[in-house]
Parts: sequence; structure tokens; C-alpha cells
Amino acid sequence: MTKPRVLSGVQPTGSLHLGNWLGAIRNWVELQDSHDTFFCVVDLHAITVPHEPALLAQQTRSTAALYLACGIDPQRSTVFVQSQVPAHAELCWLLNCLTPLNWLERMIQFKEKALKQGDNVSVGLLDYPVLMAADILLYDADQVPVGEDQKQHLELARDIAQQRVNSRFGSEEQPLLKVPKPLILRDGARVMSLTDGSAKMSKSDPNEGSRINLLDPPELITKKIKRAKTDPVIGLEFDNPERPEAANLLGLYALLSGKGRGEAAAECAAMGWGTFKPLLAETVVEALRPVQERYAEISADPAQLDLVLAQGRERATAVAAGTLARLKQAMGFLTFP
Ligand code: AMP
Ligand code: TRP
Repeated sequence: MTKPRVLSGVQPTGSLHLGNWLGAIRNWVELQDSHDTFFCVVDLHAITVPHEPALLAQQTRSTAALYLACGIDPQRSTVFVQSQVPAHAELCWLLNCLTPLNWLERMIQFKEKALKQGDNVSVGLLDYPVLMAADILLYDADQVPVGEDQKQHLELARDIAQQRVNSRFGSEEQPLLKVPKPLILRDGARVMSLTDGSAKMSKSDPNEGSRINLLDPPELITKKIKRAKTDPVIGLEFDNPERPEAANLLGLYALLSGKGRGEAAAECAAMGWGTFKPLLAETVVEALRPVQERYAEISADPAQLDLVLAQGRERATAVAAGTLARLKQAMGFLTFP
């Protein structure tokens, strides 16, 4: 029995935060035993909005190092950098020529990001989901762990594979590309901003106080939690729509303490914010401590990280080259010996 294959990635923009960890990477770690796992740092996606060249390489490395620090094990997973496997960009081009423009124009993330960019919207930003489809389809991924916000992009990857590639260039018996399924992750994984319980914790929020980065030192974590938005009610609870901040912070406590929602809710039901916040701060600091310690070790040995990424690149290239060759042949390109 071969294990189902999984592929996912995070952009190396800014530092990873609790939302990325609880919503994405922590779940990847658990998949490593049951699945054949590929995790890439999607640096080509990071240049779809204006980027800082002086920071790109360093942020790519630190994102990869954080994958490992969070428990991604290069013995069991293929960890690589997207731009180092040129097949991603090449497949993207082939798929570009098969994808209707209006499929891309209706992507919600494009519309939102384009609004923010004003009149400086690149073709790359529009094309972002096709590159993501290429990432997934190159590896014949069975499943793609994605957050809520990426479901529309995964739908698009499925539509491209099925309606534009398989039905045109493949045969019923022998589909050219595997049609991936979303792997919807367990609930409680949507982490909200510390300054607004109704907005997602995000790398792009200009307010640093809105998020806890995985590498924030303990004092900074404590300070951010101390300043986090609260309300005048005493006692933490989950299901009061008037109190999104209470639900979010209690949710973090439940997840990071390992107590689960029921026990956490019972423990904090009568607790004032003045008691709860230091408890939460300590819990977050303790949960991140092992990640931060491992990150320091990994960063102290850059040659080892280089080796992991070189091995990842090799393994990824081997799989990707096969898929690309298959598609190019089916599309009728001139082959060479
Ligand atoms: P991004 O930070 O947008 O590059 O997202 C990388 C991954 O982290 C994606 O799988 C997202 O779904 C996940 N993610 C980002 N922000 C959050 C959040 N606030 N809560 C849960 N998951 C998140
Ligand atoms: N678009 C994804 C995000 O912002 C990142 C991404 C790029 C991705 N390629 C992917 C996720 C392939 C899963 C599979 O989160």
C-alpha cells in the first residue's frame, strides 16, 4: 500500500505566526507518518506583490528552518524551495495557456490583494493560483492541507487538472494529472488577530501587536498578550458571538495547553482577564519554547540546512520532471533524447 501523497507550502514573507503554526504546519507534522509528504517554501509566490530582494533568500531559509523546528522531519518529508525546482514555473506556463482568464479574475484573494495594490497589480498576482496549481499537480498530490482561505484556489487546481488537462489531453482510463482533494484540517485552527477578534491573524497586518510570531522572545509575547484587546466581561467563553476576543484567546489556551476546549472553558469560565492573560502568556511561551530552541540549533548549523534543502530539491526534481515530461508529451511538444 502506498501512502497518499500530500503537498503544501507557505510563503516566505515576514515571519511565521501562531496562525501559520496552528492552522498549517502543526498539522503537517502529524501527517508525516500516514502520508508521503512534500513541503515547499513558495518563494515564487512571494514575489507576486512587491518584495525586498535583500530579504528574500534569508526569509526563505528561515521559513525552511522553522518547518524543521516545528517538527517537519527531513527523513520522512521532502522539504524544498519552490524556485529551485524550475518545473514549477514551467508547468505554470503550460497551465496558463489552458486556463481561462475569467477563472482567475473571480478569485477572491486576487480581488482583495489587487484592491490593496492599487494600480500596481502584477500579472503574477493574477496568475498566483495557476502557479499554486502547478505546485500541487507536479507531485500528483492526493491531498492538500489548506486553510479555509485557500479552498477556492484548490478548487481551481482541480478544475484545471480535470477540465483543461485530463479531458483534453488524457484518456478516461489514464488521467494525465491526479485531481487533488482538499484536506480540511480540524477546527479551532483559525487564529484571530490579538487586536481584533473578528480579523484573521495575518503576516500582512501592519500592527505587530496583532500577531505572535513563532520567534518572538518571551517578554514580547507577554507584552503582546497583555495589550491584546479584551472586553469588560469577567469569565472566558467560546460561544458568545459578542465576544470574539474571548473565544479566540480561550481557543489559543485550549490548543496550546493541550487541555482541549471543554477543560479550558471550564477552568476559565469565572476567570477575570487579569488572571487569564498571564496564564495564557505563560502557556504560549512554554508551547513555543521547544520550537525556538530547535530553531536556534538549526540556525547554528547552516550547512546542515543547505544539505536538507539540496536533498529536498533532488527528490522534488525527480518527481516533478516525470510529471512535466508526461504532460509535455501529451501536449505534443518535440522531445529530445
Ligand atoms: P499565509 O500566511 O497566508 O502564507 O498562510 C500560510 C498557511 O497558514 C496557510 O495554510 C493558511 O491557511 C495558514 N494560516 C495563515 N493565517 C492563519 C490564521 N490566522 N489562522 C489559521 N491558519 C492560518
Ligand atoms: N497559496 C498558499 C497560501 O497562501 C501557499 C501555497 C502555494 C500552497 N502553493 C501551494 C499551499 C500549494 C498548498 C499547496 O497559503
